[in-house]
Amino acid sequence: MSVARFPDGFVFGAATAAYQVEGAVDEDGRGPSIWDTFCRVPDAIAGGDTGDVACDNYHRWPEDVALMASLGLGAYRFSIAWPRVQPDGAGPANQKGLDHYRRLVEGLRERGIVPYVTLYHWDLPQALQDRGGWPARDTAYRFADYTAIVRDALGDVVDHWATLNEPKVASHAGYGDGIHAPGIRDRALRDRAAHHLLLAHGLGLSVLRGSGEVGITLDLSPVRPMTGSPEDAAAAAEHDYDNHGMFLEPVLRGRSRLGADLVRDGDLDLISAPIDYLGVNYYRPLYVTAGPRAVVPPGVPVTAVDWPIVPSGLRDLLVGLREAYPDVPPIHITENGAAFDDEVGPDGSVDDPARVAYLHSHLLALHEAIEAGVDVRGYFVWTLLDNFEWAEGYAKRFGIVRVDQADLTRRPKASAHWYGQVARTGAVPR
Ligand code: NOJ
Repeated sequence: MSVARFPDGFVFGAATAAYQVEGAVDEDGRGPSIWDTFCRVPDAIAGGDTGDVACDNYHRWPEDVALMASLGLGAYRFSIAWPRVQPDGAGPANQKGLDHYRRLVEGLRERGIVPYVTLYHWDLPQALQDRGGWPARDTAYRFADYTAIVRDALGDVVDHWATLNEPKVASHAGYGDGIHAPGIRDRALRDRAAHHLLLAHGLGLSVLRGSGEVGITLDLSPVRPMTGSPEDAAAAAEHDYDNHGMFLEPVLRGRSRLGADLVRDGDLDLISAPIDYLGVNYYRPLYVTAGPRAVVPPGVPVTAVDWPIVPSGLRDLLVGLREAYPDVPPIHITENGAAFDDEVGPDGSVDDPARVAYLHSHLLALHEAIEAGVDVRGYFVWTLLDNFEWAEGYAKRFGIVRVDQADLTRRPKASAHWYGQVARTGAVPR
């Protein structure tokens, strides 16, 4: 049988984020985050779900680490909850919070799983939101302080860092569309949040310089006009800027279209300082029309969250990125995966052929991009566990491991076994 073999040293891992899996929101001195608050807003989250318990990974992490080891995964991308480290978003460190992550990192290393730490995956301390949140410039400086605390506590055992996860979603969904915490709808605040998130990245980068490989994770989707009309083409170009240019241009080229009142002298030098890798989260292309709503073209299959399944989009994205930015640093696919309505069989097993097919086709598309010369060093499946899918609550399952809120038992799905085989062999059947 022919196989697509990945380069030597290519990393296969799984990803999660603190608020989505940890639970234990009141334990060991953790302060409230904007997501704890947002989950209390009526109708903000499907089913009224919250991250209060999530996957209880705060307590069950040893089981989750053992599970990853048994599957043969080489790396684990997780995020640190800022409100565990600085409950009020400022001031001295909460040692118990740091101790938790130290135990987790050491547990991973003992099992030969390389930790990839993300410092910010959307759980801003509520106290900082009360002082203006990301639209306030000061929040970026608070992030730099927090980053220094984490570097001092974990720098000797962590070699791979990301400052931010998907700053666009934090600014646009959180402050522009109001569908994520803190639930604000204001275009000017959205842009302020976007710039200050990038400034936080730049400041964080200088704090972490010399502490290993440091990058940022962006959500990138190839943007495709729905039709050949000039209106759709113009709408797609604008969308592309709002979604990608607003983040890629400052980070990779030191350019911003935002006003000088917001972007101060020196900001772009910090933001565009070299990164060791670019993290790319890819799920789907975006089809854009000049009309009010983008839809999926007829005949394109979709996942349980109605995202079009287009594996070639991953190859096109990566090849296009390298063409647009010839100096783009090495890439890690920091997230890729899909939600499907999995069912538990009578014997407790979970057969999820649609997820296996999604992962399979996307890994082959990734392999094509590598063969075309794009320097990709790793791939992290989103996600290890069915977890709190933000505004969608627990109903949408992205995990390769089944978790039900009723009992929190971990049940590896067929996709977990399939992906484990890929991780162990470094190859995907064609
Ligand atoms: C990207 C986000 O980083 C992650 O938190 C989320 O669960 C997945 N996309 C799926 O929507």
